[in-house]
Amino acid sequence: MIKLTSKKPEDFTGDMLAYLVEEDNENLAGGADSLASKILYGIKEQGDFNGKSEETFLFYPGLIASEDKQQIKAKRILFVGLGQQDDDVAARMEQLRIAGGIIAQQAGKVKSEEVLVVLPKNIILSASEISESLTEGLLLGNYKFTEYKSEPKEKEKKKLVTTFYLNDGSLSATAVRRGMNRGKFSSEAACSARDMANHPGNAWTANDFAEYAKKITKKNRLKCKILEKAAMKKLGMGGILGVNQGSSLPPKMVILEYITNKKNPTVLLVGKGLTFDSGGISLKPAAGMEAMKYDMCGGAAVLAAMQAVGQEEPVGVNVIGIIPTTDNMSGSNALKPGDVITHYGGKTSEIINTDAEGRLILADALAYGIEMFSPEAVVDLATLTGAVIVGLGHHRTGLISNNDILVDRMIDAGDRAGEPLWRLPIGKEYRKQIDSTIADIKNTGGKSAGTITAACYLQEFVGDVPWAHLDIAGTAWDFTEKTYIPKGPSGTGVRTLLNLVRSWKTLPMDNKA
Ligand code: BES
Ligand code: MN
Ligand code: ZN
Repeated sequence: MIKLTSKKPEDFTGDMLAYLVEEDNENLAGGADSLASKILYGIKEQGDFNGKSEETFLFYPGLIASEDKQQIKAKRILFVGLGQQDDDVAARMEQLRIAGGIIAQQAGKVKSEEVLVVLPKNIILSASEISESLTEGLLLGNYKFTEYKSEPKEKEKKKLVTTFYLNDGSLSATAVRRGMNRGKFSSEAACSARDMANHPGNAWTANDFAEYAKKITKKNRLKCKILEKAAMKKLGMGGILGVNQGSSLPPKMVILEYITNKKNPTVLLVGKGLTFDSGGISLKPAAGMEAMKYDMCGGAAVLAAMQAVGQEEPVGVNVIGIIPTTDNMSGSNALKPGDVITHYGGKTSEIINTDAEGRLILADALAYGIEMFSPEAVVDLATLTGAVIVGLGHHRTGLISNNDILVDRMIDAGDRAGEPLWRLPIGKEYRKQIDSTIADIKNTGGKSAGTITAACYLQEFVGDVPWAHLDIAGTAWDFTEKTYIPKGPSGTGVRTLLNLVRSWKTLPMDNKA
């Protein structure tokens, strides 16, 4: 939980009082002649703490034998270094998120449940950007998943901060509140996406995606529609139905609508919700297969982003989220290499490898979503290829698009979220690799350029609509470890998508890549 408070830091009686300190700057927000300021001055003189990024200094004012000690009522004081200010807005926001993550970590270590954080005042960012980034760092850094631990559950829970208080440090309280709420919605959503991914394949199925979508519709300004298997059959969605053939659980197409006004531009978000990828008949090797429970992270990102959209209610834009969801199993009726399927809209595809299933379920969702909602732009997110990990590692999400302006917006949205993207090319040379001798296309493009040929497959279903594809196979899980990003699922994409739709402006008509 996070709350604003106007209480003086000195009067806070909770477990920890945290100050953010810029490198080479002695000024603390909120009272320069306080005990905290004196101590900061002293330890800087000693050269023990200089405000370098990720540097911390923890002390216990109540234990200091001096007449000063009554000045501060908090049990602990934590100084966290911010490093030197950067010219770049995105980099400055990242500094604050990292500092927020450190506060959450340190507070957890010393079991502090109530923490007051004083906002820094000299950072060259708007008050709302400061509180947004800091809130994100605090809440994302305070994440733990313990649902499947039977014994230590209660104990572990206690290690989390229960309430963060933000003291505006003399910044505008309205702007601070606005930023705090944005940060709260976005990071709670990212943590929901992490939870979905942490759940094992037997506890997070297509039905759970549908139930979660219905649940958030009740609380927010969203509408929800679930396409069941029978409806998919009528509509001719041979991709998701084909992938589902080897499963004992029915597939779902989860559709969430946030409509402000029919006249406003619509952004369509599509996420791969593959709740477990065994590879199907083209079975994956056993080693590491357990990680394939996270093949639903694209779907989780879209669902969670819709949750935050419903809470934040961005103006001037409609947002649609579609999650095609099923597992990919090898039951006796499973799809086989050599089979031909027909996608929504009539395009036929020869299955070469049943493990290239993500593109099959996404193709139906993209074609259907574009036909139903006439979006101005489409963004899809998927843990689509192992090849993207070979190319970009776990540090950047692969981006492939048919529109330069959308690319700029995506990269900017990702940078502001601390989720960097890297564009890869696409074009007819690559497209040729998925020509089939017997059907319109085939579902693999050979050994080379696997990430790009997968995107070529998707492009077949988006027509001329500005489209961006994010391959998050490397970043959805074990993303670059940061103070606010733990090992395991990162919740990547949620905050990037939010940044994108929050500031959506109609795309110029004449730009095509
Ligand atoms: N879900 C996987 C992609 C993946 C691989 C994600 C490793 C995370 C880590 C996807 O469905 C898949 O199996 N892709 C195949 C495609 C190939 C058969 C053309 C791959 O990348 O090997
Ligand atoms: Mn697969
Ligand atoms: Zn997969």
